[in-house]
Amino acid sequence: MNFQHRHVLGIKQFNAEELNFILDTAESFKEINTRSIKKVPTLRGKTIINLFFEASTRTRTSFEIAGKRLSADTVNISGSASSVVKGETLEDTARNIEAMHPDIIVMRHSASGSSDYLAARLNCSVVNAGDGTHEHPSQALLDAFTIRQHRGKIAGLKVAIIGDIAHSRVVRSNINCLKKLGAEVVVAGPKTMLPPGLEMLGCRVAPSLSDALEDADVVMMLRIQLERQGKSLIPSLREYSRFFGLNENNLKLAKPDAIVMHPGPMNRGVEISTAVADGPQNVILDQVENGVAIRMALLYLAAGGDKMVEG
Ligand code: CP
Repeated sequence: MNFQHRHVLGIKQFNAEELNFILDTAESFKEINTRSIKKVPTLRGKTIINLFFEASTRTRTSFEIAGKRLSADTVNISGSASSVVKGETLEDTARNIEAMHPDIIVMRHSASGSSDYLAARLNCSVVNAGDGTHEHPSQALLDAFTIRQHRGKIAGLKVAIIGDIAHSRVVRSNINCLKKLGAEVVVAGPKTMLPPGLEMLGCRVAPSLSDALEDADVVMMLRIQLERQGKSLIPSLREYSRFFGLNENNLKLAKPDAIVMHPGPMNRGVEISTAVADGPQNVILDQVENGVAIRMALLYLAAGGDKMVEG
């Protein structure tokens, strides 16, 4: 297909055909990550800058690895080590970086809409690695990829997403992505962590954890985002765990072959017990592994790789 997107800002910009094309492109890159020499020349001569204003282990590392495995030159800049701490604005920082002619800026920022803001002002491609509580498109794509890998399809599956829905950019991107790919999405969490209007995204809000888990094919647990005021919205972590934590007992409500997912980082003993996190149904490290292939696909497509001619 003719992929027309220069930026990757959110799942909202893609239709089902484009989402499947990204997943198929990632499938073609996945095998490179298991070779003894994990490098192909696809993005040789391209420069990718990873600009992270928030903490990250998985996303930042996998974008860097993805760029390097495609032979791009990758540079990492963290907000705390940049001139932002001296008062420089995001736009000035980005314009100065762009003056060095990168092809792609991958950005994570605490402000919702920050990637769209930069994309409207820069000439290079912008890839959103998570903006505030808005979107985390590469996470939703790697989750869809992992579901497809383990269940063979996405359409028709019941996906239960449990936890701090209000503060999660992962859930917004996931609901949008999974609905477009034909899944039934059910969410559950404490009332204080359920934003109004969720149904407008096309998901069902379950009255309880057990209702959401009943016959689920996929159980996706979310972290309480303590850094985004999560703590003040619940009486205690112990109570949260009692009513919304996934354990070996309540997991039995889901289908016997249900898979358990978590975007990480996990709060073990809060939203998920260690027995489940490390248990036979978990695919959490598969999600991380697939993150590299998905980010290779996104960098390749954002760089116009599918339209490149050698020579
Ligand atoms: N899932 C995710 O975004 O993890 P990091 O914050 O470690 O990147």
